[in-house]
Amino acid sequence: MNYYIGIDLGTSSCKGSVVDGNGKVRGTHSVKYGVSCPAPNFSEQAPADWYSAAVQILKKLSSGIEDDIKGVSIAGQMHGLVMLDEDDNVIRPAILWNDGRSEKQTKFLNGIPETFEETGNTAFPGFTAPKILWVKENEPENFKRCRKICLPKDYLAYMLTGVFSTDFSDAAGMLLLDVEHKKWSQRMCEICGITVGMLPKLYESYEVTGRIKPEFGLKNAVMCAGAGDNAASAVGTGTLSPGDCSISLGTSGTVFLPCDEYIAGAGRILHNFCHSNGRYHLMGCILSAASCDDWWTKRILKGDYDRFTLEKAAATGVYFLPYLTGERCPHNDVYARGAFIGLSAETTREDMCLAVYEGVAYALRDCVKAGGVSVRSAVLCGGGAKSPLWQAVVSNVLGVDIYVTETEQFGAAMLAMVGCGEYPDLVTCATTTVKKKLAVKYDKEIHEKYNKGFEVYKKLYPVLKTIY
Ligand code: XUL
Repeated sequence: MNYYIGIDLGTSSCKGSVVDGNGKVRGTHSVKYGVSCPAPNFSEQAPADWYSAAVQILKKLSSGIEDDIKGVSIAGQMHGLVMLDEDDNVIRPAILWNDGRSEKQTKFLNGIPETFEETGNTAFPGFTAPKILWVKENEPENFKRCRKICLPKDYLAYMLTGVFSTDFSDAAGMLLLDVEHKKWSQRMCEICGITVGMLPKLYESYEVTGRIKPEFGLKNAVMCAGAGDNAASAVGTGTLSPGDCSISLGTSGTVFLPCDEYIAGAGRILHNFCHSNGRYHLMGCILSAASCDDWWTKRILKGDYDRFTLEKAAATGVYFLPYLTGERCPHNDVYARGAFIGLSAETTREDMCLAVYEGVAYALRDCVKAGGVSVRSAVLCGGGAKSPLWQAVVSNVLGVDIYVTETEQFGAAMLAMVGCGEYPDLVTCATTTVKKKLAVKYDKEIHEKYNKGFEVYKKLYPVLKTIY
């Protein structure tokens, strides 16, 4: 039997699954790690923690079937800056996708025409290029020592194979890629003070880049290029063709829309990136989604709540702004902050629980609206997708039917299956291995209520912005 391992290098943990060629999951394993915030708006991780987690996962998942593992692929948290010196040592902790320190450098990049002309995208502090400029300005010694620059999953793949590679979907989020023509932008590299030679070689997500080093004991396994986590989840939910949509409720929240062709000019508010199927996609990203629920239920309520009394309620008049770590789309504001609004002496804890779910759903709708796109139905994925109540709230706020996958998603493993020839392409692989089911049909009456709620929600950020 052939087996494939997909590793998902997330922000709160690294998760892996080992899957057979029919898409039957044989095992999963995950290892948690922390994020360090050494200053306000900073968000960093040690690449050594990712490496140790991934090695444990590989060992655990391949135990007893080492020689049957044919391919490995990694889906990674996007945009993180990893800098290596001439001996491939990590120079400083990785600066993550939700780090807001590079606001000044982001303004500079958005003030010059080259950024949009070369990359097709607006700069956000979370993207890699502004972070490179931040290190250049604030840590010149580190910048001088830098010989290689890569993304989180590419660091892992480099350690596991010795091949310095990336894929187009993840590379697009560096703001160093000419997304339309799928090549590194020499001009953007010059602007950031680096050279194209410091960047990894580009591949399609499903292409084989090399072999797993012998010391990991997987003698028959190749590595495929992998993808940014959102593009890989889109593979895992079968979101591969125009008209499809996946919505992720992970630490971040995203709305992911595949396109067959590159759409010039679409990257002003949404991200205009390459997809892992060789084509393109648009994406809106909010920085805090499931993390709002985590903050609210674990940190504030300390686990003491009961959601199931909420089922019938909607738009109770309590609003929550989910900007706990600033906001990416559509506001591009590192200083935005969360808020509860509309509290009264009658407000219950349940109203506030519901408001958290609704606030995240409104923020996703804000991205869809700002991008001028229309969505008819969506597959929900990520940790938050497991909650039936949150599924219903997202469905009714957006006015779309919500589907979920019946089994665990394993987008990264699917990339390895296609890379190893188990399937001719991702669509065939998804048709065979991904099973979706309708979770919620949206309710017109509740959607009407939420249309009114959304009008109020839209007015809140502009008012509060003046005090952030
Ligand atoms: C996407 C983004 C996040 C991270 C989370 O642009 O920044 O979704 O990829 O891992």
